[in-house]
Amino acid sequence: MSRTIYVNGCYQPYNNALLHVEDRATLFADAVYEVVEIKAGNLVDQDAHLERLERSLNEIKLVTDFALHTIPFIIRETIRRNRVKNGYVYIQVSRGCAQRDFVFPKTNETPATLIIFARSKNPLKLDKKSKKGIKVITHPDLRWKRPDIKTTGLLASVLARQTAIEQGAEEAWLYNKDKIITEGAASNAWIVNNQNELITHPANQSILKGITREGVMQLAKELNLKFSERPFSIEEAKEAKEAFITAATNLVMPVTQIDEKTVNDGKSGPISLKLREIFHEFAQISH
Ligand code: PDD
Repeated sequence: MSRTIYVNGCYQPYNNALLHVEDRATLFADAVYEVVEIKAGNLVDQDAHLERLERSLNEIKLVTDFALHTIPFIIRETIRRNRVKNGYVYIQVSRGCAQRDFVFPKTNETPATLIIFARSKNPLKLDKKSKKGIKVITHPDLRWKRPDIKTTGLLASVLARQTAIEQGAEEAWLYNKDKIITEGAASNAWIVNNQNELITHPANQSILKGITREGVMQLAKELNLKFSERPFSIEEAKEAKEAFITAATNLVMPVTQIDEKTVNDGKSGPISLKLREIFHEFAQISH
């Protein structure tokens, strides 16, 4: 549990880290966020995450009264105060607190709300899980039409993930009306076909352009593996040689079962494991 959480200029003890009921994050999910991995006290791909945060803010036309370049200092201090060595940091910016109205409040009268907290996560547990691999279920993609923006409006993803858990799986792979897998509830979805080609959905408005996904593309080049950003169907996924998910919270995590179909005889695939093993060698680490 985080002991100290940053809320609008103050480092608050956990129990006092409160938002006003009329914060627009609570009323409208009028907020965007980022999750950055902390490894050995350092931040993994922080700049790319903060660039994406800026993009999300621009897409929802949220103008902050604070300079975004102050965020890395607050992140550092939050990690320090919570003594997190391995885990993640969560950053959220909402359009501030104002009387409920669908129309934006005036920027000069309504400061944006910035929240930052850091959590520890045991990397050994995740590594152990990666050896075994995870099960995913397929689930209709019921999200709004702009999941490329990392907003806190996550109810469709919450319901999909919950359904996965209730069915003994760890993630839901979302599919559209054409039975194309877009991505996971909170991760990008990948398959490897018989030609050892890595395939993931194109980074258009239907998915979040994952930072880990970008990293894996870089790795594919390093390893001389072919990759292709193209749509793939549920059917194709079930015929895949390997499958995996990517996200800052679990890096490259092999998938060994999709619905009732086992992948790679129910074992974590060698390409997925290799990508996981070398991921940090090529990531940008901020000390
Ligand atoms: N989610 N797609 C979705 C819908 C996501 O929510 C995430 C990450 C990703 C992977 O993005 P990245 O590689 O940049 O972490 C893809 C975070 C971890 C979360 O909401 O907790």
